[in-house]
Parts: sequence; structure tokens; C-alpha cells
Amino acid sequence: MQHLISISDLSSDDLIEIIELAEKLKLERYKGVVTDYLKNKSLAMIFELPSTRTRVSFEVAMTDLGGHALYLNWSDLQLGRGEPIKDTARVLSRYVHAVTMRVRDHSTILEFAEYSSVPVINALSNLEHPCQIIADLLTIKEYKGSLEDVKVVWVGDGNNVCNSLILAASLIGMILIVSTPKGYEPNKEIVEKAKSFAKESGAKIVFEKNPVSAVKDADVIYTDVWTSMGQENEKEERIKVFTPYQVNEKLVNYAKDDVIVMHCLPAHRGEEITEAVIEGSNSVIFDQAENRLHAQKAILLKLIGDEYN
Ligand code: CP
Ligand code: NVA
Repeated sequence: MQHLISISDLSSDDLIEIIELAEKLKLERYKGVVTDYLKNKSLAMIFELPSTRTRVSFEVAMTDLGGHALYLNWSDLQLGRGEPIKDTARVLSRYVHAVTMRVRDHSTILEFAEYSSVPVINALSNLEHPCQIIADLLTIKEYKGSLEDVKVVWVGDGNNVCNSLILAASLIGMILIVSTPKGYEPNKEIVEKAKSFAKESGAKIVFEKNPVSAVKDADVIYTDVWTSMGQENEKEERIKVFTPYQVNEKLVNYAKDDVIVMHCLPAHRGEEITEAVIEGSNSVIFDQAENRLHAQKAILLKLIGDEYN
């Protein structure tokens, strides 16, 4: 594995290995074990868009592992004044051991990776959010004991987070129901790729427009914002289309009693999810957010940890 730009850069074995490594690192942090697996290693973190969880979890992950992280706001770099991506990639590759990037357009990270001689990690693009999904699989495994025979239902927009979830579920053989309104389905090429992975893994990926039918007997309900970063001018239209897809107490009641409700955050209370559900007993949203830290560590070790790759 050279880069982590898409979940499909990983094999199913890689994915399982990263989740297991995250479990081990989580335990080590809880026990207060001092780790220096990334001593003398540096991570550049380029952000073209805002971030709380991804930025802070990557930075703390590097500190906890004995390494160093540099937060680089796109507009503070010469990139913001038009220095080419390919020059920036070649220069940073000479300084740091890996680069994580949050970009508006997925093509930006692909171009950067083409010229980078160090691993590039997708910290979110308009197409995928692979690091999020690795943390989410860890959360599902912790709560449900396994990733097999767990009915996971995505409700809402077929966005970047949904695309990465579809790829991960299809790689490792999960059951995933995707409930999105017409016109807001996940990316077609990703769905095709997922179908071919599912043939191999035995995954069951089902598309069900009706959110009530989709969540029947669900073990996991997962939602995300209706308007992702960069889509702000579509907000009014999106609220109209997505209203039947709100994750509220009524919808959650169609699922199993012990259903867990997930959201990658930040959430818009009263839009895709209600206050009562976020704060309710089925919500695992803040454990999910914590797991970003443990997952980032495992990703970093797999890519640049000498003992692990
Ligand atoms: N879930 C997530 O990626 O959050 P941030 O935008 O705060 O990084
Ligand atoms: N789909 C959201 C995820 C934010 C972490 C967005 O792209 O804005």
C-alpha cells in the first residue's frame, strides 16, 4: 500500500489488519503506554477545507507515536498563490514522511500523489473519506462484536462518506443497505467497483429508496449531513429532498432495539438527525469520534511505521 486515497487502495486483509492495529493502539493509550513507533517521522497535513476531528486526531496521533505533525492551511502555503501542486508534492516529499490532505476536488489529491514520493492520505475529498470509515468499522466491531452478519443502513446523501462505506463493506463482506433519494445516489463508478468486490467477498449491498423499509431490523443506522462542504449553494433544495430521510426517533424505532446510531460529525441537528437521537441511548457518535484518533494511528503505522509495513 503506497497511498490511502481511496478505501479501494486497501485489500480486505489490509483493512482488517488496520482495524486490529487500531484496537491494540487504543488499549495501549488507555493503559498509558508510551509509544515511539514514529520517532523522528513528520506528517504534513494540508487542509483546503475546515476540519476539527481529522486535523486534531492526526496531530495527536503523531504526537502520541513520538512523531511530529505540521498543520498547513492551503491558503498559507504558496499553493494558495498558485504554486503548482506537482511542485509542492515534490518539495514536501523531501521533508516529510507522509502527507495527509483535505481537498475540495478529488483530482487534486490524485495529482499530488502522482508527484509525491511519500505516502499520501486522503483526509476527505468530495469523493471519499477513507480514514473516517476505518474508524467507523472499528466502532461497529466494538459495539456489535463483529463486522459480519451486522445489518448496516446508510440513510441520507450518497456522499463521500457513503462512497467509502460502500467500498469498505463490499471489500470485507458486510451487509449494507443504502437509502438515498433519487438524484443523490452514491458515485456510479464506486458502486460498480463495489459490486465486483462483493462478488469476491460475499458482501450484500442493497439499494432501497424508502428509508423506513431500509432501517427495518437494522443493527446500525449511519447518517451524515445533507449538504457537504462545497455544496452550500444547494442547501435549500437539499433540505426539501432529504426531509423524509431524517434520522429521528420514529425512524430509529423501526430498527432493532439495540441499534447503534452513527454520524461522522459535524451534525446539523434538526436536519439529517434530531437532537433527541444524537443525545439518545442508541447514539455512539462520540465514541465514533474518539475512534478517529486510534484509527489514524493505525493508518500512519501501516503506511510509515517501520515495524508495521
Ligand atoms: N468527521 C470529520 O471528518 O470531521 P472534521 O471535518 O471535523 O474533520
Ligand atoms: N460529507 C461531509 C463530511 C464532513 C466530515 C462533507 O464532505 O462535508
